[in-house]
Amino acid sequence: MEKSMFRLDGKIALVTGAATGIGAGIAATLARQGAAVVISDKPGESLAATAESVKRHNDSVMELEMDVCDTDQIRAGIRKLQETLGKVDILVNNAAVNRPAPGLEVTEESWDDHFKANVKGGFFLAQKVAPMMIQQKWGRVIWISSQSGLIGIPGQPVYCSTKGAVIQLVKVLGLEWAKHGITVNSVAPTFVETNMTRKRLQNQEFLRFVLGKIPIGRLATIDEVAAAVAFLASEEASMVNCHALRVDGGWTAW
Ligand SMILES: NC(=O)c1ccc[n+]([C@@H]2O[C@H](COP(=O)([O-])OP(=O)(O)OC[C@H]3O[C@@H](n4cnc5c(N)ncnc54)[C@H](O)[C@@H]3O)[C@@H](O)[C@H]2O)c1
Repeated sequence: MEKSMFRLDGKIALVTGAATGIGAGIAATLARQGAAVVISDKPGESLAATAESVKRHNDSVMELEMDVCDTDQIRAGIRKLQETLGKVDILVNNAAVNRPAPGLEVTEESWDDHFKANVKGGFFLAQKVAPMMIQQKWGRVIWISSQSGLIGIPGQPVYCSTKGAVIQLVKVLGLEWAKHGITVNSVAPTFVETNMTRKRLQNQEFLRFVLGKIPIGRLATIDEVAAAVAFLASEEASMVNCHALRVDGGWTAW
């Protein structure tokens, strides 16, 4: 019988920001493809619902409290993961924040918060996980960037800057780590309805602006983003590196 494609059996995947939204969907999709999944979020965020949906596909699930803004927590989290499971094959840097504010109103505190959560956290997590991947000569580092890293969206200069930074980071780490069998990529979605965007999308004027920009004429779904992650994590994507895979219905082609 021919082997099915995009399977992740035997792989261990760590997904950050997995308590809700896109991260929760990615965790369930990777489990459906056969991966054992480590679901992680900030202390205080419940991972119970995600654990339940992961277990529908694969019993092998570990919960890990870790604030990606805190490098001590990253170190401790990776130590715990290494002691418990021994390795990480797939890292999905999904955790991020977005508190829209026009340029004239951005505070220094908000700037720092965004860069810590959206750029610094994922970078140092990747740095801690990469040595395990280098040792086994195989790894997948996948960020959830955003179309906001490729185009400008008025009202979110800081978020757009962080996602642009992620797209650059992916290129450089992909160049540095390719020789070790590690690929580094990102998925760049358009708007998806989650806690991050729900309130803004309820504003009819904003929703009209968004839908007017998406040639396919609707928002992206969590499953569509998760499917792109599963592809990048798979063996079949072994020649895809340093790439931002757009799941944007064509928005960024304008
Ligand atoms: N929703 C969209 O329209 C959209 C579009 C493009 C890209 N994205 C990206 O997709 C990813 C997921 O977004 P979402 O829409 O599911 O958002 P969300 O707000 O629903 O979920 C984000 C998750 O990240 C966690 N998180 C935040 N800061 C953290 C930290 N310091 N440490 C650990 N966990 C932390 C939150 O607790 C939450 O569970 C983000 O990277 C986001 O930028 C979202």
